[in-house]
Amino acid sequence: MKLKIKDMELADFQKAILTGIPDELPAPRPYDPNVSHAPKRKDILTPEEKKLAVKNALRYFDKKHHAVLAPEFKKELDEYGRIYMYRFRPDYKIYARSIDQYPHKSKQAAAIMLMISNNLDEAVAQHPHELITYGGNGAVFQNWAQYLLTMKYLAEMTDEQTLVMYSGNPVGLFPSHKDAPRVVVTNGMVVPNYSKPDDYERFNALGVSQYGQMTAGSYMYIGPQGIVHGTTITVLNAGRMIQKGNEGLAGKLFVSSGLGGMSGAQAKAAVIAGAVGVIAEVNRKAVEKRHSQGWVDEVYDDLDELIERIKKAKAGKEAVSLAYEGNIVDLWEKFVEKDIFVELGSDQTSLHNPWAGGYYPAGLSFGESNIMMAENPEEFKKKVQESLRRQVKAINTLTAKGMYFFDYGNAFLLEAGRAGADIMKDDGSFRYPSYVQDIMGPMCFDYGFGPFRWVCTSSKPEDLDLTDDIAAEVMEEIAATAPPEIMQQMKDNIKWIREAKKNKLVVGSQARILYADCEGRTKIAAAFNQAIKEGRITAPVVLGRDHHDVSGTDSPYRETSNIYDGSQFTADMAIQNVIGDSFRGATWVSIHNGGGVGWGEVINGGFGMVLDGSEDADRRLRMMLYWDVNNGIARRSWARNDGALFAIKRAMQDEPNLKVTVPVIADDELIDNLF
Ligand SMILES: NC(=O)c1ccc[n+]([C@@H]2O[C@H](COP(=O)([O-])OP(=O)(O)OC[C@H]3O[C@@H](n4cnc5c(N)ncnc54)[C@H](O)[C@@H]3O)[C@@H](O)[C@H]2O)c1
Repeated sequence: MKLKIKDMELADFQKAILTGIPDELPAPRPYDPNVSHAPKRKDILTPEEKKLAVKNALRYFDKKHHAVLAPEFKKELDEYGRIYMYRFRPDYKIYARSIDQYPHKSKQAAAIMLMISNNLDEAVAQHPHELITYGGNGAVFQNWAQYLLTMKYLAEMTDEQTLVMYSGNPVGLFPSHKDAPRVVVTNGMVVPNYSKPDDYERFNALGVSQYGQMTAGSYMYIGPQGIVHGTTITVLNAGRMIQKGNEGLAGKLFVSSGLGGMSGAQAKAAVIAGAVGVIAEVNRKAVEKRHSQGWVDEVYDDLDELIERIKKAKAGKEAVSLAYEGNIVDLWEKFVEKDIFVELGSDQTSLHNPWAGGYYPAGLSFGESNIMMAENPEEFKKKVQESLRRQVKAINTLTAKGMYFFDYGNAFLLEAGRAGADIMKDDGSFRYPSYVQDIMGPMCFDYGFGPFRWVCTSSKPEDLDLTDDIAAEVMEEIAATAPPEIMQQMKDNIKWIREAKKNKLVVGSQARILYADCEGRTKIAAAFNQAIKEGRITAPVVLGRDHHDVSGTDSPYRETSNIYDGSQFTADMAIQNVIGDSFRGATWVSIHNGGGVGWGEVINGGFGMVLDGSEDADRRLRMMLYWDVNNGIARRSWARNDGALFAIKRAMQDEPNLKVTVPVIADDELIDNLF
């Protein structure tokens, strides 16, 4: 009986997908207060531009509906600052179903439908009804008409067509060939002079552009596990930088702020790395969420009590995470007052958005800040800057005693500098490094290690378990003969994948992340493809990666902040990467403006690749993954980075068809004497 109801649901779902935008208007949908909604966006359009926005939105609908829809869309624009077309949100549940449930003519297209569905799953997405996956504005589509139309195109397309996506808008299906990508995605691409934050607000309100973040608009989000792995690697390696012998992080204190979207991973990562993690968070809801999920072990709002607990945890070398429900500035100042030795320090408040809720200043409660930022923004800005100056003063005192402090890609150094904090060295550079400059860049990216990931399209946990085992076996085999330069990375990643299931990190699709280099990615992918061919893995596997990787992203204050030849502001690498992936066999490719650090601040791209057990898939994976990693290593080696020079020379020894221009390193003395 139950099966019958399920079958009916499936039939309705498939019918709805094939219908696309319905000919008859669906009933309006009430605003659901139980779901997290995007905040009202900036009211930026002129009256003439508002007319244009409504006219643009009506392009998706038969003229017979315009009289009803035009006022409705105007109301949405007035109330939310955007036209989401809420009425067209489907009434079936959106989640990563197994691949066979999506109506399709192309398996590759069905896999893409699964990935899109995961990004919009209410259990995964941040503001699902506004089609936002994460990061406040990371959009999959701008409106529900785009979703409906895209899913219909994907259901109808064959392996002889390519779907073209401009910032969420499906431009259409174009004839291509079976080795071409099934989908080509661009998000937020603008003529460079029009890439200021307000330009984004205007174009997005007009319905002509969107902010794809990194993995939202590229359909590659896999929930929080991606960030846990990256944060664990960062904390572990920061620990290695400060250790005297081989003692690791046992009994050492790691202090930071933020238990939000990404920052929430810090507490869990500190425990996995074996440290005592103390994270301050001003928002009670965020603290409660992470505590209830088990990502934070204990919560304190009394600083003296917390200090006693920290002393005990350090003495007992406990791997434990403690949340301080309060302001990070108060915590840092307490450490100074009580002379507590902190080994590692960072900050993950959202300083990429300092004036509108990303940073809560000391001296004001959470509620007081929320009122002041809306009612008295000038005064609020002063408070934020004053707070940053206090924060830096306390951090400077602790680093003078031996703490290692790093910026976590959240614009802390940049905003503290702008606030006039004592954060600069005499030569005008920052006192402290970013995590990419000291850790991620030289230890991972330069050697080609990055956030490789995969999704089992059967949506069966058993398939994921098998892929974990296969990946671990492949990594162990490679580690047996790996050179010492990458042995530590290999060991860390083998440990990660061996413990991945135990750490219960799956939210949404059956996905896994594993930092791996070119050899690791390729051999793991080939082994998956073989297992699919043999029927051991029961359905295709989607390969992908975070855009925050070796080759995909040009971002001068983050991914490419350890590029020192002046080219960190160029974006040739990211553009070349996506072009190269597209003709080497990627199933879909994407290139974005914005993502992580803000609109206009970064160009980032990625790919998805469907493995179906075929010989074609084997050929494609070898060709594409090789380029996808070695492009970045080549650029990093040209910038004279030691690890990348080692890695690219090693790659050329193994592959005679790879011939990369290697830099000749000039003598510093020769140059210095010229000036
Ligand atoms: N984790 C990573 O790997 C990573 C990588 C690159 C960049 N970042 C950056 O880290 C920042 C945080 O990302 P997120 O997704 O967690 O953002 P988020 O906004 O979800 O979380 C930030 C948290 O900091 C809290 N907070 C703000 N001011 C505070 C203060 N003074 N004291 C204590 N808590 C305070 C907020 O309440 C919020 O919960 C972003 O700027 C992001 O770009 C993170």
